[in-house]
Amino acid sequence: MTTPRRAPGGFPVVGVIGGGQLARMLQAPAVALGVQLSVLAEADDASAALVIPSAPVGDHTDLDAVCRFAASCDVVTFDHEHVPADVLAALEADGVPLHPSPRALRLAQDKLAMRRRLAEIGVSCPRWVAAVTRADVEAFGGQVGWPIVAKTPRGGYDGKGVRVLRTPADLDTLADWLDAVGASGPLAEGILLEELVPFERELAVLVARSPSGQAAAWPVVETVQTDGICTEVLAPAPDLDPATAAEATHAALRIAGELGVTGVLAVEMFQVARAADGARSGGGRAAYLVNELAMRPHNSGHWSIDGAVTSQFEQHLRAVLDLPLGDPRPLAPWTVMANVLGGDYAEIYPAYRHVMARDPGLKVHMYGKGVRPGRKIGHVNVSGPDLSEARGRAQHAADYLQGVIDE
Ligand SMILES: Nc1ncnc2c1ncn2[C@@H]1O[C@H](COP(=O)(O)OP(=O)(O)OP(=O)(O)O)[C@@H](O)[C@H]1O
Ligand SMILES: [Mg+2]
Repeated sequence: MTTPRRAPGGFPVVGVIGGGQLARMLQAPAVALGVQLSVLAEADDASAALVIPSAPVGDHTDLDAVCRFAASCDVVTFDHEHVPADVLAALEADGVPLHPSPRALRLAQDKLAMRRRLAEIGVSCPRWVAAVTRADVEAFGGQVGWPIVAKTPRGGYDGKGVRVLRTPADLDTLADWLDAVGASGPLAEGILLEELVPFERELAVLVARSPSGQAAAWPVVETVQTDGICTEVLAPAPDLDPATAAEATHAALRIAGELGVTGVLAVEMFQVARAADGARSGGGRAAYLVNELAMRPHNSGHWSIDGAVTSQFEQHLRAVLDLPLGDPRPLAPWTVMANVLGGDYAEIYPAYRHVMARDPGLKVHMYGKGVRPGRKIGHVNVSGPDLSEARGRAQHAADYLQGVIDE
């Protein structure tokens, strides 16, 4: 067992389980704050392992590997939601400070558990049910009207694990999932079914909460999804009426408090026409319905690296260390984030040089990941006084890096 390698001055070591781009983006603020990161990485060339000197390779499902890793850290946080419950329980029993706690994290790991808990605390959500049989699916479609959305409770990301059933005839496309219900795995407890929400747009509210209960919220943002993947974020959400913004922010802060979340919490929401629809859980009068929760820095907060006084990554570190939180206010009227997805060209360095030369105001963030079509390999941020100009510049750069534009 190793002892925590405290930095000079008694500064702590923050352990991060998982070496993806979220762990990687914690490193720049960790350097500035003077705290040390250590990451339990999937491989020695994982995104975060390339920039964090302490990056032992280990499997996050391997109890021994995770406990050994945690023993060298002062607090432990997560790059993803996939650490199994028994591993989390063992860490907790060992007295390792975990942020978020297993009790909270369980709700971000399991969409059925999340829906149940949000219903308990009266948060507005799409109508939903846990389906075990074909008849359950038919009955739910009959009740809320087709189309409906089917989700795997666990393990989904970037729209993988989300299926739309347009009509009862599409039930056959769910046969593999229905077969998996009851077996051990992501569908053990059933399939999450939701009404297909006719949303006006998607919003996200990012908040941070520290163990001592201090909380901070960034402005509500608009997120744009293409084929289930977030491609663009507009901060703040354009033309959002202040009452809805306040209500959505209040809901996110309340969720963080009620669920005891520590660190960053992202609440994904659908903005809907405000209607007296009592059928929805939570009373139904809200102008938003909560889609899902992430208890870690989130794609919807990448704009904050360049667009806010305190980025989500710095704030997450402050929160998990129970340091005073930083100012979340924006630095510019608008910041637009566009994700860079892998395209057809493996060598993107020439394109990268091009976009920088074309637009010196652009902030490019690359994750050190190999290019695979559709994989998130970086993002760009553009801030400024004019939204459509910022959008155009960010989108052009992302498209160019993806090889969509050939100038
Ligand atoms: N009930 C719904 N009604 C309408 N659209 C939905 C619904 N649920 C999900 N979607 C669409 O599918 C996208 C992905 O869904 P969701 O966020 O649940 O899945 P995910 O794969 O866990 O995503 P993430 O990448 O955020 O982890 C949403 O952003 C939204 O565009
Ligand atoms: Mg989502």
